[in-house]
Order: sequence, then structure tokens, then C-alpha cells
Amino acid sequence: MPSHEIVSTRLIQSVAEARAAVLSAKVSGESIGLVPTMGALHQGHLSLVEASLRECDRTVVSIFVNPAQFGPSEDLRRYPRDLDEDLRLLEELGCWLLFAPSADEMYGRGFETYVDVGPVAEPLEGVLRPGHFRGVATVVLKLLQIVPADRTFFGQKDYQQTLVVKQLVNDLGVPTEICVEPIVREADGIALSSRNAYLNPTERKQACALWQSLQLAEQLHTAGEKNAEAILGPVKQKLAKADGVDVEYVALLQQGTIGEVSAINGPTVVVIAARVGQTRLIDNHIIG
Ligand code: PAJ
Repeated sequence: MPSHEIVSTRLIQSVAEARAAVLSAKVSGESIGLVPTMGALHQGHLSLVEASLRECDRTVVSIFVNPAQFGPSEDLRRYPRDLDEDLRLLEELGCWLLFAPSADEMYGRGFETYVDVGPVAEPLEGVLRPGHFRGVATVVLKLLQIVPADRTFFGQKDYQQTLVVKQLVNDLGVPTEICVEPIVREADGIALSSRNAYLNPTERKQACALWQSLQLAEQLHTAGEKNAEAILGPVKQKLAKADGVDVEYVALLQQGTIGEVSAINGPTVVVIAARVGQTRLIDNHIIG
């Protein structure tokens, strides 16, 4: 007799099969956790899977590089893909089901309905990636129609995305709880991201400026600074001086909202977007 159960992860590529598998688990009274991803799984993704495994009876991970959320000049074609390795990592953790549909399966011929997201999607990423959150909201709603999960797991890494999906499920009455998990970082502080694979060794070092700038914001606040401009100024200066880094935005947002603050009175999210070489990176950190 084996001393432990060997769990094999079911790989499903059809919408109908995924829906049937999830519904039969739900009928047996099991709770479902969904972790939506675009694959090339790293420890950041896997921390969401681990949270779901802890909190739900059955964990579904979706891997779908969603064309609807990429702009025409973005990296859809060269986005990293490695389904075999992803499946292996999920089996190791004991994930129940991997849903990995094709673009045709998700957006068949004649597809024409999109989610029109509100003001929470307009600033910051919304300005730099027009249409991005419309694509995210549409695919997340579709995934939740196929996998009606009790809980859906997202990373704090994509802070504005967490606000968009919370708004979406509230406004459209989607019966799932949105769970947000902390950012997983490398030893040198860089936030794990599938796009880090694009960085050459020099750029990889230069990218540390993002985390160092977030830490500077924290240090200034810890030293007693409350004024937003007095924190943003030095942070922007540090990023401007960093070799190879082109800043797109830095902002201080009231935690849980997209609203910028003029003074820190309570939990505040410092958000940064920057290009390192050709690679666009985002990161954030909660202070206060
Ligand atoms: P993707 O970039 O693959 O990320 C999937 C999930 O992993 C997101 O919720 C993201 O915030 C989380 N994540 C990424 N890096 C992380 C890190 N270092 N620490 C913690 N969590 C991290 O985000 C998307 O895919 C897509 O927009 C998606 C929601 C799947 C819709 O297509």
C-alpha cells in the first residue's frame, strides 16, 4: 500500500469538459478555488495555488495567454509558454485541474461581447495599456462562468488588476470571493514575473532599482515623512538616476482604492511602472 496518495493533475482544454468536472465536484459539496494565470509559472503563481490548496477542497489553475488583454505592439507572440513544465509544477503541489484552453476555444468565431470596465481601470495602467483591463475583465468573467469558484486568487503584484476584478464581481454579482495574496520576491527584492525572463543579466541587475525605490519610499515614511510629494520626489529622482530604467509612473494610492493621496494617513500603496530595456515591469509596496 502506498503511504501517500499520488495526485495527478487533470489537464482539460475544452470549456464543456472543464465546466462538467467543476460542476460534479460542486454537486458533491466540495469548495472550488480558481487561480487564473497566463502560465510560465513561477513561485509567485505557485503561492496563489498554495493559498487555494489551503482554503479550498479542489484547486483549478487556468493557463491562458489572453489575446484580448495585449495591445497591438505588446508581447503576445513572444510571451513565454511552457505547458509541460507548468503541469509538472502543479502536479508536485497536488493541484486538481489545469484548464488550458486554446484561443479558439475561448474566443470562437463571432465573439463580440466585452466587459466595459469603469473608472478604476482608467488611470495608471489604463493610460499606458489602453484596453488592457477590458481584456482582463472579459477573460476573468468568462473563466468564472466556466469555473464557478467559491474563491478566486490574485496577486498583490498586479494591484490595479485586483481592484478591477473586485469591482467586476461586485457590479455584476459574480458569486466568488476575491482573495489577494502578497508579492513574492527574489532574494534581491525583484518581484517574480514571467516577463523577467526577457531581461539580460545587465538589465536584471538594473531592474533592482524598482524595489530599491519602493524601499526608499518606506524609509522616508518610517523616518516621519507624511507628505506625498516629499516622498515621490526623491523616489522619482532615484529612478531617474538608475541606469537603463525609464519610469512610466510612480504614485501613492490609498490602499484598496485607485485614488492618489496627498498625505499618508494609513495604509498606502506605492506603485511603480518602468521599462528596463524593452521590458515593461510593474511593482508596488504597502507602506503606512
Ligand atoms: P499572470 O501575469 O500570469 O499572473 C497570474 C497571477 O499571478 C496574477 O494574479 C498575478 O498578480 C499573480 N502574480 C504574478 N507575479 C506574482 C508575484 N511575484 N507574487 C505574487 N503574485 C504574483 O495576471 C495575469 O496573469 C492575467 O492578467 C490574468 C489575471 C490571468 C487574466 O488573463
